[in-house]
Amino acid sequence: MKLLVCGGAGFIGSNFVRLRVRDHGDEVVVLDKLTYAGRLENLADVDHTFVHADIADAEKVREAMAGVDAVVNFAAETHVDRSIAEPDAFVTTHAVGTYVLLEAARERGVRYLQVSTDEVYGSIASGSFTEASPLQPSSPYSATKAGADLLVASYYETFGLETVICRGSNNYGPYQYPEKLIPLMVLNAFHGDKLPVYGDGMQVRNWLYVEDFGRGIGHVLAHGAPGEVYNVGGPDECPNIDVVKRIVALTGNDDTLIEYVTDRPGHDRRYSLGSEKVRALGCVAQVRFEEGLDATGKWYRVNTDWWESIRSGDYLEYYKRQYGTALGG
Ligand code: NAD
Ligand code: DAU
Repeated sequence: MKLLVCGGAGFIGSNFVRLRVRDHGDEVVVLDKLTYAGRLENLADVDHTFVHADIADAEKVREAMAGVDAVVNFAAETHVDRSIAEPDAFVTTHAVGTYVLLEAARERGVRYLQVSTDEVYGSIASGSFTEASPLQPSSPYSATKAGADLLVASYYETFGLETVICRGSNNYGPYQYPEKLIPLMVLNAFHGDKLPVYGDGMQVRNWLYVEDFGRGIGHVLAHGAPGEVYNVGGPDECPNIDVVKRIVALTGNDDTLIEYVTDRPGHDRRYSLGSEKVRALGCVAQVRFEEGLDATGKWYRVNTDWWESIRSGDYLEYYKRQYGTALGG
């Protein structure tokens, strides 16, 4: 297959591209704007063609889509805290960008997979979301992702474009930008910096190893029915404070590094994703949280060059703005 992977220089996108090239022999064109979260280094070891462009740039998108069998769209602004501080780019990329991609896919008759998130369903106190659960997003991030999903669905209903939507739960693993919970805590712990836990730390996330999400997306691309939505959830749920305590133990620290800080506004209490539909297609997440977290910690321990270049400059400024405190280390 020849794939156009938008947002392929980010965390999940780059892991997906590696998987497709290595295990499936796919030819891949990556189109990415290279925001602060997109990095060519993430793809240094993978054969691909790179197009530096915004998904909202209709001309470049149309050109990049020539001759491809399918488009997989990962391109997004992805950090909830940034969507609260500065929502602009979330609205533009998720609404206008998705629209531009859909128009080009329609023109070229190319199958389209939208990568989405469990956050579009909002928070659930008990039980798990199914694909039929209502969309009740809480943050500008999840609201604009939900808007993109609805636009994708409309292109199937109205124009008959072959679309599928894949909603993943919280991913973790190699190459994740250290604004997200797990890499932030791992790197802070390496440096003996404080570990900022929002609110009471009892919010629950449904952890999915990034390669399992990549496998799920590939499976849905090959076997999913047009017009359908597929949830891809992780095998384990864990309260944030337990995740942080595991990281403290893995890095040989003690709990005195943990600091409870002001909660995130509109913070969703619990996510839980039911994945029966994708399981019925023959796809099951394989990596348990304990094993995946251990592998992730080891990856960050070894790949210091990767994160040292991030954990400086803009990142330190972002950290100070978000947490009101400077990083030491
Ligand atoms: P990321 O922030 O690591 O990567 C996003 C990538 O998109 C970057 O390479 C960035 O440069 C690129 N990008 C951003 N705006 C762009 C634009 N306008 N044009 C072209 N490229 C642009 O994000 P991630 O965690 O890898 O998430 C990828 C996708 O998966 C997103 O759609 C996200 O909503 C979804 N998702 C993420 C998770 C998670 O836990 N991280 C879970 C479920 C779904
Ligand atoms: O559920 C899927 C979503 O997971 C994706 O769609 C998003 O793109 C991705 O960013 C992620 O969103 P979360 O908000 O769940 O992830 P984050 O890593 O920001 O936070 C995870 C939990 O940890 C959340 O309850 C907030 C908490 N947290 C986070 C940070 C960064 C803290 O307590 N302290 C922190 O410093």
